[in-house]
Amino acid sequence: MKLRGWMIGTLMLGASVPLALAQSDMRSPSSSSSEQYVPRLGDIMSGVQARHVKLWFAGKAQNWGLAEFELRQLKAGLTEAALLYSGIPVTNVTTLDGPLTDVSDAISAKDGRKFAKAMSGLTDGCNGCHQSMGRGFIAIRIPTQQQPFGNQQFAPQR
Ligand code: HEC
Repeated sequence: MKLRGWMIGTLMLGASVPLALAQSDMRSPSSSSSEQYVPRLGDIMSGVQARHVKLWFAGKAQNWGLAEFELRQLKAGLTEAALLYSGIPVTNVTTLDGPLTDVSDAISAKDGRKFAKAMSGLTDGCNGCHQSMGRGFIAIRIPTQQQPFGNQQFAPQR
Protein backbone atom coordinates (compact mmCIF):
# COMPACT_ATOMS: atom_id res chain seq x y z
CA MET A 1 0.00 0.00 0.00
CA LYS A 2 2.77 2.39 0.92
CA LEU A 3 4.66 1.03 -2.06
CA ARG A 4 2.04 2.00 -4.60
CA GLY A 5 2.62 5.60 -3.74
CA TRP A 6 6.37 5.51 -4.11
CA MET A 7 6.35 6.97 -7.60
CA ILE A 8 3.80 9.63 -6.76
CA GLY A 9 5.96 10.62 -3.83
CA THR A 10 8.92 10.73 -6.16
CA LEU A 11 7.19 13.04 -8.57
CA MET A 12 6.02 15.39 -5.84
CA LEU A 13 9.44 15.51 -4.28
CA GLY A 14 10.93 16.11 -7.69
CA ALA A 15 9.05 19.36 -8.05
CA SER A 16 10.62 20.80 -4.93
CA VAL A 17 14.13 19.54 -5.34
CA PRO A 18 15.83 22.51 -7.02
CA LEU A 19 14.48 24.81 -4.32
CA ALA A 20 15.53 22.43 -1.54
CA LEU A 21 19.04 22.21 -2.97
CA ALA A 22 19.34 25.96 -3.27
CA GLN A 23 18.19 26.50 0.31
CA SER A 24 20.49 23.93 1.80
CA ASP A 25 23.36 25.57 -0.07
CA MET A 26 22.68 28.88 1.56
CA ARG A 27 21.97 27.47 4.98
CA SER A 28 24.94 25.20 5.35
CA PRO A 29 27.68 27.11 7.19
CA SER A 30 30.03 24.12 7.16
CA SER A 31 29.97 23.64 3.42
CA SER A 32 33.24 24.79 1.92
CA SER A 33 31.98 24.59 -1.64
CA SER A 34 28.81 25.93 -3.19
CA GLU A 35 28.58 22.84 -5.38
CA GLN A 36 26.13 20.18 -4.30
CA TYR A 37 27.41 16.63 -4.54
CA VAL A 38 25.32 14.65 -6.97
CA PRO A 39 26.01 10.90 -7.10
CA ARG A 40 26.61 9.54 -10.55
CA LEU A 41 23.81 7.49 -12.03
CA GLY A 42 26.14 4.50 -12.46
CA ASP A 43 27.02 4.67 -8.77
CA ILE A 44 23.38 4.79 -7.71
CA MET A 45 22.75 1.82 -10.01
CA SER A 46 25.66 -0.12 -8.53
CA GLY A 47 23.94 0.26 -5.16
CA VAL A 48 20.67 -0.91 -6.69
CA GLN A 49 22.50 -3.91 -8.14
CA ALA A 50 23.86 -4.87 -4.71
CA ARG A 51 20.36 -4.60 -3.19
CA HIS A 52 18.94 -6.73 -5.98
CA VAL A 53 21.37 -9.58 -5.11
CA LYS A 54 20.82 -9.25 -1.37
CA LEU A 55 17.06 -9.04 -1.80
CA TRP A 56 17.08 -12.26 -3.80
CA PHE A 57 19.13 -14.25 -1.31
CA ALA A 58 17.25 -12.84 1.68
CA GLY A 59 13.98 -13.99 0.13
CA LYS A 60 15.41 -17.33 -0.83
CA ALA A 61 16.54 -17.84 2.77
CA GLN A 62 13.07 -16.72 3.94
CA ASN A 63 14.60 -13.92 5.96
CA TRP A 64 11.62 -11.66 5.28
CA GLY A 65 12.73 -8.87 7.58
CA LEU A 66 15.98 -8.54 5.67
CA ALA A 67 14.16 -8.86 2.34
CA GLU A 68 11.85 -6.00 3.29
CA PHE A 69 14.85 -3.89 4.25
CA GLU A 70 16.72 -4.57 1.01
CA LEU A 71 13.61 -3.84 -1.03
CA ARG A 72 13.32 -0.48 0.72
CA GLN A 73 16.96 0.27 -0.08
CA LEU A 74 16.50 -0.76 -3.70
CA LYS A 75 13.48 1.48 -4.09
CA ALA A 76 15.29 4.39 -2.50
CA GLY A 77 18.03 3.99 -5.11
CA LEU A 78 15.60 3.95 -8.02
CA THR A 79 13.74 6.95 -6.57
CA GLU A 80 17.00 8.85 -6.23
CA ALA A 81 17.92 8.03 -9.82
CA ALA A 82 14.56 9.31 -11.08
CA LEU A 83 14.81 12.46 -8.95
CA LEU A 84 18.34 13.39 -9.89
CA TYR A 85 18.33 12.33 -13.54
CA SER A 86 15.44 13.96 -15.34
CA GLY A 87 16.66 12.39 -18.59
CA ILE A 88 15.18 9.09 -17.44
CA PRO A 89 11.66 8.92 -18.90
CA VAL A 90 9.07 8.82 -16.11
CA THR A 91 7.29 5.88 -17.77
CA ASN A 92 10.49 3.82 -17.50
CA VAL A 93 10.24 4.22 -13.74
CA THR A 94 6.49 3.88 -13.31
CA THR A 95 6.48 0.53 -15.13
CA LEU A 96 8.39 -0.81 -12.13
CA ASP A 97 5.54 0.12 -9.82
CA GLY A 98 3.72 -3.18 -10.44
CA PRO A 99 6.73 -5.48 -10.03
CA LEU A 100 7.86 -3.61 -6.88
CA THR A 101 4.40 -3.99 -5.36
CA ASP A 102 4.39 -7.70 -6.27
CA VAL A 103 7.72 -8.23 -4.51
CA SER A 104 6.46 -6.34 -1.47
CA ASP A 105 3.22 -8.35 -1.38
CA ALA A 106 5.16 -11.62 -1.63
CA ILE A 107 7.37 -10.55 1.28
CA SER A 108 4.34 -9.62 3.40
CA ALA A 109 2.77 -12.98 2.57
CA LYS A 110 6.10 -14.76 3.27
CA ASP A 111 5.48 -16.62 0.03
CA GLY A 112 8.69 -17.92 -1.55
CA ARG A 113 7.08 -18.91 -4.85
CA LYS A 114 5.37 -15.57 -5.35
CA PHE A 115 8.60 -13.88 -4.36
CA ALA A 116 10.60 -15.71 -7.05
CA LYS A 117 8.04 -14.83 -9.70
CA ALA A 118 7.87 -11.21 -8.62
CA MET A 119 11.66 -10.92 -8.63
CA SER A 120 11.76 -12.11 -12.18
CA GLY A 121 9.23 -9.41 -13.11
CA LEU A 122 11.34 -6.81 -11.34
CA THR A 123 14.46 -8.00 -13.14
CA ASP A 124 12.65 -7.70 -16.48
CA GLY A 125 11.87 -4.12 -15.46
CA CYS A 126 15.57 -3.37 -14.88
CA ASN A 127 16.43 -4.70 -18.32
CA GLY A 128 13.49 -2.99 -20.00
CA CYS A 129 14.78 0.40 -18.94
CA HIS A 130 18.38 -0.44 -19.81
CA GLN A 131 17.34 -1.56 -23.30
CA SER A 132 15.19 1.49 -23.92
CA MET A 133 18.03 3.79 -22.93
CA GLY A 134 20.73 2.28 -25.11
CA ARG A 135 22.17 0.31 -22.19
CA GLY A 136 21.00 -3.15 -23.27
CA PHE A 137 24.52 -4.41 -22.61
CA ILE A 138 23.81 -4.03 -18.89
CA ALA A 139 21.87 -7.27 -18.51
CA ILE A 140 20.53 -8.09 -15.06
CA ARG A 141 19.45 -11.61 -14.13
CA ILE A 142 18.36 -13.55 -11.06
CA PRO A 143 21.65 -14.49 -9.39
CA THR A 144 22.67 -18.11 -9.34
CA GLN A 145 25.60 -17.69 -7.01
CA GLN A 146 26.01 -15.59 -3.92
CA GLN A 147 28.56 -13.25 -5.43
CA PRO A 148 28.59 -9.49 -5.75
CA PHE A 149 27.97 -9.50 -9.51
CA GLY A 150 26.14 -12.80 -9.71
CA ASN A 151 23.08 -10.93 -10.98
CA GLN A 152 24.76 -9.55 -14.07
CA GLN A 153 25.23 -11.34 -17.34
CA PHE A 154 28.57 -10.48 -18.90
CA ALA A 155 28.27 -12.36 -22.18
CA PRO A 156 27.16 -10.09 -25.05
CA GLN A 157 23.41 -9.90 -25.50
CA ARG A 158 22.15 -11.34 -28.81
C1 HEC B 1 14.35 3.90 -15.25
C2 HEC B 1 15.51 3.33 -15.87
C3 HEC B 1 16.31 2.28 -15.13
C4 HEC B 1 15.85 1.29 -14.30
C5 HEC B 1 14.41 0.99 -13.91
C6 HEC B 1 17.00 0.56 -13.87
N1 HEC B 1 18.14 1.09 -14.41
FE1 HEC B 1 20.02 0.43 -14.09
N2 HEC B 1 20.74 1.90 -15.31
C7 HEC B 1 19.97 2.82 -15.99
C8 HEC B 1 20.83 3.65 -16.80
C9 HEC B 1 20.39 4.80 -17.70
C10 HEC B 1 22.15 3.18 -16.59
C11 HEC B 1 23.44 3.72 -17.24
C12 HEC B 1 24.05 4.80 -16.41
C13 HEC B 1 25.16 5.50 -17.16
O1 HEC B 1 25.22 5.46 -18.36
O2 HEC B 1 26.00 6.10 -16.45
C14 HEC B 1 22.05 2.07 -15.66
C15 HEC B 1 23.13 1.34 -15.20
C16 HEC B 1 23.05 0.23 -14.41
C17 HEC B 1 24.18 -0.58 -14.00
C18 HEC B 1 25.64 -0.37 -14.40
C19 HEC B 1 26.39 0.31 -13.27
C20 HEC B 1 27.88 0.35 -13.56
O3 HEC B 1 28.44 1.45 -13.41
O4 HEC B 1 28.45 -0.67 -13.93
C21 HEC B 1 23.69 -1.58 -13.22
C22 HEC B 1 24.49 -2.70 -12.58
C23 HEC B 1 22.26 -1.39 -13.11
N3 HEC B 1 21.91 -0.29 -13.85
C24 HEC B 1 21.43 -2.19 -12.36
C25 HEC B 1 20.05 -2.05 -12.30
C26 HEC B 1 19.16 -2.94 -11.59
C27 HEC B 1 19.59 -4.15 -10.80
C28 HEC B 1 17.90 -2.47 -11.79
C29 HEC B 1 16.60 -3.03 -11.31
C30 HEC B 1 16.43 -3.36 -9.92
C31 HEC B 1 18.01 -1.28 -12.63
N4 HEC B 1 19.32 -1.07 -12.92
C32 HEC B 1 16.92 -0.53 -13.03
C33 HEC B 1 18.61 2.96 -15.94
C34 HEC B 1 17.75 2.14 -15.20
